[in-house]
Amino acid sequence: MNVGIDQISFYVPQMYLDMIDLAQARNVDPNKYLIGIGQEKMAINPQSQDIITLGANAAEKILTAQDKEQIDLVIVGTESSIDESKASAVILHRLLGIQPYARAIEVKEACYAGTAALQMAVNHVRLHPESKALVIATDIARYGLNSGGEPTQGAGAVAMLITKEPRILVIEEKTLALTKDVYDFWRPTNQKYPLVDGPLSNSTYINAFSDVFTAYNQKYQQSLTDYKALLFHIPYTKMGRKALNHLLENVDEAIAKEFIDNYELSIRYSRQIGNLYTGSLYLGLISYLDHVATLKPEDTIGLFSYGSGMVGEFFQAHVVEGYQKHLHTTQNQETLNKRHRLTFAEYETCLNEHLDPSIDQVFTDETRFSIEKVENHIRYYKK
Ligand code: HMG
Repeated sequence: MNVGIDQISFYVPQMYLDMIDLAQARNVDPNKYLIGIGQEKMAINPQSQDIITLGANAAEKILTAQDKEQIDLVIVGTESSIDESKASAVILHRLLGIQPYARAIEVKEACYAGTAALQMAVNHVRLHPESKALVIATDIARYGLNSGGEPTQGAGAVAMLITKEPRILVIEEKTLALTKDVYDFWRPTNQKYPLVDGPLSNSTYINAFSDVFTAYNQKYQQSLTDYKALLFHIPYTKMGRKALNHLLENVDEAIAKEFIDNYELSIRYSRQIGNLYTGSLYLGLISYLDHVATLKPEDTIGLFSYGSGMVGEFFQAHVVEGYQKHLHTTQNQETLNKRHRLTFAEYETCLNEHLDPSIDQVFTDETRFSIEKVENHIRYYKK
């Protein structure tokens, strides 16, 4: 029995900062951001959008009434949790109208949590083939004004419906994870922003990919040319390219070019959005599927998931015949094109605002799902 992604979609806040505006304000050569980091735009969320509304706006696009009756597992992967106890999945379960006899949980391990959620959901459906599972990877990546990580911020969510005999992508059972206790990026519970050792985070990422990719191929007796494309967690688009270039150093030029061309297709959306943390790898997957010329079911796609701290995982997948009919390519491009470009002053205001749940307040936001008000430490969502 095949199990995998039956439906997939993303949602990003409808505001962005242009990286040229950031470069001018920071007195930096714009090419450092456009080429050196590889980002053109950075998604910024208003206070009325949090990980719940981003997740709900992503998931609502793909769920039918029948799916909502069949889903019995909702897992949210996030590192931008709004509560130390209550899982965001419980609120999403209600907002999305999913039948009550379901399990709803939130999982954490930096950007890797989206993959942890996906693998748990896939295993759940392998055990219970009549079930459907909803995975939501949702985050707000903020490092703060004038910080080292400032050009690598972003926000958004990816939603995936996991079923047997999926219509888009089969996730194979072959997988390998790698865990190492490293302080490259972490956020103690009293900190608003993560603490980051930028150079260490870059080298840990590259070494983790190199290590797990080599071990995976040894374990399953595969080699580079068995893959059609390699997709990466994309904290900023230069990062995956660095890991890929490292792998391709001594590889035949024509083979290397094909991997690089495919990587370029996978970063088109991320260049316009920035880091989605848990959703980044899957935003790359959507971008790749939306832009690549037809893939064949026998084409193997390798996926590298990375979460600081650190856990990495390499696994593989292949498309299902006719998968293109189930993509939302036009809608995805519209979501990006209709966004509002912030002035630098508006961006600074957004970054200085922090939703304090101890202060009652009301919000106005036209988006399908948004925060309506905060009262008595409870966020009330517009449905
Ligand atoms: P920085 O100090 O601003 O940048 O830090 P830099 O000086 O290292 O320059 C960046 C690149 O721009 C360099 O290229 C420069 O040469 C180039 P590279 O050597 O890397 O190939 N450059 C230029 N290129 C063209 N024209 C120019 C120019 N000037 C310079 N004029 C850093 C950059 C990414 C470290 C910083 O923004 C940061 O700390 N970001 C946050 C951490 C991060 O994203 N790390 C990535 C790996 S960890 C990860 O992926 C996990 C994560 O998603 C979190 C999680 O798991 O939860 C972050």
